[in-house]
Amino acid sequence: MPKTAYKPSLDSTARDFALDKTSISRFVPIAPESIADGEARNFSLYLYGDGRFVLYRRSELPLAIEDLTRLKENGVDTLWILSTDHKKYLRHLQSNLEKILTDYRVPIQDRSKLLYEVSRDVMEDLFKDPDDPVNLTRVESLAKDQMHFLEKEPLAFRSLLGLTCHHYYTFTHSVHVSIISSALALRQTIIDKENREKLALAGLLHDLGKTLISTDILDKPGKLDQKEWIEIKNHPTNGRQLAKQGGVIDRDILGAIEQHHEKYMGGGYPNGIGGNEINILARYLTVADVFDAMTTKRAYDRRYSAYAALDKMVRQMKNLFDPEILKVLISLLGEPVMEGIGRKVESGGTL
Ligand SMILES: [Fe+2]
Ligand SMILES: [Fe+2]
Repeated sequence: MPKTAYKPSLDSTARDFALDKTSISRFVPIAPESIADGEARNFSLYLYGDGRFVLYRRSELPLAIEDLTRLKENGVDTLWILSTDHKKYLRHLQSNLEKILTDYRVPIQDRSKLLYEVSRDVMEDLFKDPDDPVNLTRVESLAKDQMHFLEKEPLAFRSLLGLTCHHYYTFTHSVHVSIISSALALRQTIIDKENREKLALAGLLHDLGKTLISTDILDKPGKLDQKEWIEIKNHPTNGRQLAKQGGVIDRDILGAIEQHHEKYMGGGYPNGIGGNEINILARYLTVADVFDAMTTKRAYDRRYSAYAALDKMVRQMKNLFDPEILKVLISLLGEPVMEGIGRKVESGGTL
């Protein structure tokens, strides 16, 4: 919250909108940089000071870079929006995402935070309503913006990884898998730019088929019965179908969605194929998928540290993965994790 009250020249009706500080739950703080784009908005901006929220900019008045400078000069580093406008704000962010992510005046951590916030919103909407074509269009545009950000900013991956939610939700998991597999592909030259963008999108969509499975099954802490297990095993094929119905026509993307549970040494599902028969994009997804699932808290298993997850992937699960891609994950996560491999896990049980 700003320490001092900034008294800008408000329009004459501003006082009508002044609100008591008890209304704080009705407001959400936002970073002024995220909306200083000179674009029209469909939500108003407020300032907080002297125990009151005061209207700063009506929705029709854009915020420009000069306004941002003035706010900074006056010690204002937070603006507020009505919590009922939060969805509108996230939509606005997404429509200007490319511009925001390439604004080098904004620290990388802040840009990463905005990307992650938009990603969560886009994916939550997709998983709520996968049949709405608008949701799929938003996911496609997000995949491009995310991949460009990772390409241009070498520190973006670490910054995004630090933000990832540690509780497992299919929509955040999909964001994580997309980010991790994109970062893996950027470390190898065999995947060109076009395929990297496909991979980012395939990551976001890979578990779309889970929208057809009830949460009782997805979050079941105990063992699944045969019928439930069949439902789970159908999600790659159903995901492919849903993506196709939504307008995805690219065969590589559809193939990656369908094959992300195939195992490199064979024996996976739905088709039990192996090695290079598996779509290359799917092989990236498998590595990212397992790593993210293990490092987040799921209903039926504990959360592993990055080191413990990698250790288990290398020692006990390596049949699942393309060994070249697994190596890239190890190097991507850096020396501190690699050094740990081969040592006894200090906590969290035996692997
Ligand atoms: Fe899956
Ligand atoms: Fe997954």
